[in-house]
Amino acid sequence: TYPNLAPTPPMGWNNWSYYRCDINEKVLLDNARALVRTGLADKGYDTVTVDDCWMAKKRGPDGELVPDPEKFPHGMAYIGRKLHKMGLKFGIYEDVGTLTCGKYPGSLGHFQQDADLFARWKVDYLKADGCNVPVPPGSTKEETFHDLYRQQSRALEASGRDITFSVSAPAYFQFAGDRVWHKVIRWSAELGNLWRSGRDIALETDSPAKKWSSIVTNFGYNAGLAGLQRPGRWNDPDFLLAGGTGLTRDEMQSQMSLWAVMAAPLISSTDLSDLSPAAREVLGNKRVIAVDQDPLGVQGEVVRKGDGFAVLSKPLANGDRVIALFNSGDTPRTLSTTAEAAGLPDAGPYLVRDLVTGRAHHSGGDIVAKDVPPHATVLYRVSAAY
Ligand code: GLA
Repeated sequence: TYPNLAPTPPMGWNNWSYYRCDINEKVLLDNARALVRTGLADKGYDTVTVDDCWMAKKRGPDGELVPDPEKFPHGMAYIGRKLHKMGLKFGIYEDVGTLTCGKYPGSLGHFQQDADLFARWKVDYLKADGCNVPVPPGSTKEETFHDLYRQQSRALEASGRDITFSVSAPAYFQFAGDRVWHKVIRWSAELGNLWRSGRDIALETDSPAKKWSSIVTNFGYNAGLAGLQRPGRWNDPDFLLAGGTGLTRDEMQSQMSLWAVMAAPLISSTDLSDLSPAAREVLGNKRVIAVDQDPLGVQGEVVRKGDGFAVLSKPLANGDRVIALFNSGDTPRTLSTTAEAAGLPDAGPYLVRDLVTGRAHHSGGDIVAKDVPPHATVLYRVSAAY
């Protein structure tokens, strides 16, 4: 859980949004191979995480977690070896309560035993969920979660293996009021490397409208948390949906661009063995990935917003700024900001590069994107032109 485990936002793939519990060795390894084959692994998507439902419903006689023998006939150490041979990292899912969300054995009461097992399996990344947490009388839910996630974090450290720690806790407090929600995020940032800022992004089986609205909702909550992250400690607005059915190219690109300007983890959850060319371009755009992975590690802040639009600005290590102009409305509109509002040092002139098309133009103090289509985001990288 040490910050040097995730100096930039984690990237990779997780099965949940697309496959849910329909997961097995073949699906996992096919997607891992596709990460390598499509070049996405080389671009940074290096962690393959198996989400809920990988286990048998009961622990073994020794209290040890047991992989489902039908889904994972060769066990989990085998998965770790296969992924590592491909140059990838191995992520796994557990829960700090009595049961996972899918009702498989949780880690409560077994934190060290499970962390040691994961270390033996050569796990590199743990997503610890927070379903089925019993709150003892006299404690609050927040205190209980804090205690359990602390135990989980310490167990990972004591396992002796470097395991990046993804904390789901804030997702369970999003509607508890900002004071408690932010408190949970602050301790999540002490205990883990990334934490789910809010509720689940839509599933592959959800309607296109629901997918889009979940992207907008998770963006909205996450955008307000800019001050709470730092390098090694990241807000996580959940999976990238590019590649699934129903979203338009502009919508997929918007999510990717907004996640990048927020320095969010980039975790794809789709069938990568059958990726459309558009989705591959969206996920694989190196200029956009570089914004997300910029070593300064600052989450872009909202500098302007109104009905149907938002403008965000993110400083980069080399002194450039990235500006995202997001049209969340249903009609095309021209979006703009000023150099001053976007945090640029003076009135320019500036070189403005559109990171999706790669095209550049010069500009004075105004940063303008004309006729942004509905649901699209224009992502500009702005550098001094002198
Ligand atoms: C919760 C999490 C999801 C997924 C499921 C698995 O809903 O937020 O990301 O892990 O549990 O059951």
